[in-house]
Amino acid sequence: MNEEEYCPRDGATFEKALKVNPRERLKAREVCPLDVIDNLNEIVAKGYEEVPEEDFVLLKWWGVIHEKPKIGKFSIRIGIPGGRLTPTQLREAGELAKEFGDGNIKVTTRQGLHIFGVNLKQSQEVMDAIKDSGLELAGGCGDAPRNITTCPLAGLNPDELFDPWNTLNLLVKTFVGNREYASLPHKYKISLDTSPDHCNIPEINDVALLGVEKDGEFGFTPLIGGGGALPARHGRHMPVFLDRGEEAVKFVVAYMNAWQENPKYRMSFAKARSKFLVDDCDMDNVRKEVESRIGYELEDYLEKPTLRVESHHLGVGEQKQEGLKYIGFPILSGMLNYEQAIKIADLAEEVGAELRATTQQNLIFVNLPEEELDGTITKMEDIGFTLKQSKIRKYAIGCTGHPYCVSSLGLGTSAREELEEIINHLEETIGDLDLTINSAGCPNGCSRPWLADIGIQGTSKLLPDGERTQAFNVLLGGGRREGEAVLARLILKMALPEDVKLSIERVVRTYLNEKQEGETFKDFTWRHEVNELKKMMVG
Ligand code: HEM
Ligand code: SF4
Repeated sequence: MNEEEYCPRDGATFEKALKVNPRERLKAREVCPLDVIDNLNEIVAKGYEEVPEEDFVLLKWWGVIHEKPKIGKFSIRIGIPGGRLTPTQLREAGELAKEFGDGNIKVTTRQGLHIFGVNLKQSQEVMDAIKDSGLELAGGCGDAPRNITTCPLAGLNPDELFDPWNTLNLLVKTFVGNREYASLPHKYKISLDTSPDHCNIPEINDVALLGVEKDGEFGFTPLIGGGGALPARHGRHMPVFLDRGEEAVKFVVAYMNAWQENPKYRMSFAKARSKFLVDDCDMDNVRKEVESRIGYELEDYLEKPTLRVESHHLGVGEQKQEGLKYIGFPILSGMLNYEQAIKIADLAEEVGAELRATTQQNLIFVNLPEEELDGTITKMEDIGFTLKQSKIRKYAIGCTGHPYCVSSLGLGTSAREELEEIINHLEETIGDLDLTINSAGCPNGCSRPWLADIGIQGTSKLLPDGERTQAFNVLLGGGRREGEAVLARLILKMALPEDVKLSIERVVRTYLNEKQEGETFKDFTWRHEVNELKKMMVG
């Protein structure tokens, strides 16, 4: 195949990329970026002040992420394929957060865990302990395949098409910690599921495999080129059918190689995600390129998958295994402390349950016998997690943000604090609402603000005295609608923290007063122009 036949390179070469893109030079410094770990003792011995920033960037490949302010504290991101977590592993994370971190733990939107405030000197010890507990650190961050996500009830959900774990395990074996795939142009997010509502949010992944049936055979059809950061893109359907064995894996590898071996996506880190390949090349051409790499033509699957409003799997539900139930507990912004983590682990062990981390930052107890339900709910209440919460609180998602994340502004109210403010205010003034609110500290969109009824995005505002102050953009109408994922529209720019909740209250009240029969908040926002919504918000 002519290298340029399907997806043009526009004059880009790997040599040019090395010259113009410092990130490519950094990756080329090591045989493989993951090799930085071999120098960890040396890096630590230098003393924090002497460590070049480049080493810190490379440590991200192992999930070791510099915190703000940069004074030598790190977050450790733990990958949990499919969010499948044993009580022992959660306890280990709790113990590590207590002994080496600041005591806090976060369940992330990629079904992983974060622990915070780890001193560089102790990072090796923490990493060894995490590895020993069977959890994964490679690819926690950096330009490599990230934690592979799925429906947290995969294998348990009575409504799923088939159990996706065989394929998921094949993907994990192929991608996680694979040195060959650790020097990609950017991160590579993989997800797969066979659940009816695709609660794993496949649309924001580089590649997502969605379970389908064709002529009585189960398999997958892919969405490719999704990405939640600006410019946000939803995965686009490549109309092919993949069998659920090696073919599915070959596809994910071939698409990754079509992207990573095209130097055009190495020229600028800002334009490196695989979504740009799908923007640049016709879908037919991407398909031909992938097929030529696999070595044969793929079967057609023309029906575009429907994305209906996703379940958060909260509360008590049935499993496909007779007599076993699950209970999903909402955790606001996924934040818990080490004591809670250890108590949850103990409780899960006591009742014979396993745990699942969800892409909505919650934890699910699975494999519970009927007789353990009431006791588990009561004990979780004692630990601090009740099922009796308003829907707006249960469904909300908040990013890591201030005080940990280097991209957060930290000029005042953090995005997580703002989220709580908004929820408290709506609960007090209006009551419960069936709405999703996702709050992010900056435009990177780690909490998917573009995919919520109400999205909050941290920014700053220049005051007349020349000072910068914390502000938030407010987005409305994102998420699943009419079987598709839609991106929210930016309605309010640079609102001051104290005004955000009032503006949201106004637009929600207008919706409640003026909605048509059966109309959702999302549909209501799409029935109005941006300017009309803005007017409703500013009052
Ligand atoms: C260029 C910078 C960054 C971009 C573009 C970016 C983008 C994203 C996106 C789109 C997600 C969505 C989750 C998913 O795919 O399921 C995500 C997740 C996440 N990101 Fe970032 N991110 C950036 C930097 C950071 C930094 C500096 C941190 C600092 C700690 C961070 C922390 C997280 C975490 C913890 C998650 C999981 C979500 C959660 O539970 O909060 N990200 N990121
Ligand atoms: S959205 Fe921004 S502030 Fe929040 S965790 Fe992501 S990068 Fe940090």
